[in-house]
Amino acid sequence: MKSIVVANWKMNPGSMKEAKKLFEATKKAADVSRNVTIIVAPPAIFLRELSGAYKGKKLSFAIQNAHFERDGTHTGENSLAQAADAKAQYVIVGHAERRAAGETNEDTEKKVVAALAQKMTPILCVGETTRSHDGEHFDYVREQLAVALSQVPPAKLSKILIAYEPVWAIGAVAPMTPRDMHEMTIFIRKAIVDQHGQAGMNIRILYGGSIDETNALNMVRDGDVHGLLVGRASTDAKKFASLVQSLNV
Ligand code: PGA
Repeated sequence: MKSIVVANWKMNPGSMKEAKKLFEATKKAADVSRNVTIIVAPPAIFLRELSGAYKGKKLSFAIQNAHFERDGTHTGENSLAQAADAKAQYVIVGHAERRAAGETNEDTEKKVVAALAQKMTPILCVGETTRSHDGEHFDYVREQLAVALSQVPPAKLSKILIAYEPVWAIGAVAPMTPRDMHEMTIFIRKAIVDQHGQAGMNIRILYGGSIDETNALNMVRDGDVHGLLVGRASTDAKKFASLVQSLNV
C-alpha cells in the first residue's frame, strides 16, 4: 500500500529562493518514489509560486492553516477558497502549534466542514499534550475527534485524513513507539466508528512527531498507519530524501 508523507515546513525556509531549492529536492524524492504520496505544506506565501511551477503529478500541496469563513474582516488569514485557487488540495486543521495559539475544537469543526465544502481534504491533527497512567489522553483525543467530526456525514469520512500527533512527541528526540501508535490507531478508529458507524472503518490515519529517516518505516509498518506528518526532517533535503527512500519497500 502507498504511504502518505506530509511535509510540514512550518515557518521555514526564510526566502522564496530557499523554498524553491527545498522544493526541487522534495520533487526529486517524489519522482523516484514508488510507494509514497507526498503532500507539501509550505508557508502560504510560497504556495502559489511553487504549485504554479509544478507540472508533475507525483506530489500535491497543502496549506498549513486556513480560515473557515469565505471572506471578510480577518486580517492576516487566508481562506480555503484562496488556498484552493493557489492549488492546495489539502489543509492542515488543528495542528498542535495552532491549538497552542488558541485554535479550539469548535474551530476545527468549522474548518473541516468548510474544507469539505471546498472539495479540499482536511488533515485533522489531534493528540494529547501529556500522558498519565489513568488513560486521560484517550478521553482527550476522543473529544477532539467528536467535536471536529460532528458535522461530517459518514460518506465523507473517507475524504479526511486524521493525523495523530502526541504533542509531547512533536519537536522531541524520538517519536512514540510504533506499538503505542498501533494502540492509538485502533482507539481512533473505534472512537470514529462509535460516533459515525461502520464508515469510520475507512478513515485514514497518519502519525506525526519526531519522524525521520531512521524511524519512518518502523512506524508505517508497525504503527498501522497510512502515513506520516513530518516537520523538521521535511526541511532538510537530504534527510527527507532518505526518509522517502526508506519507505520505498
Ligand atoms: P516534527 O514536527 O517532525 O519536527 O516533530 C511534527 C509536526 O509538528 O507536525
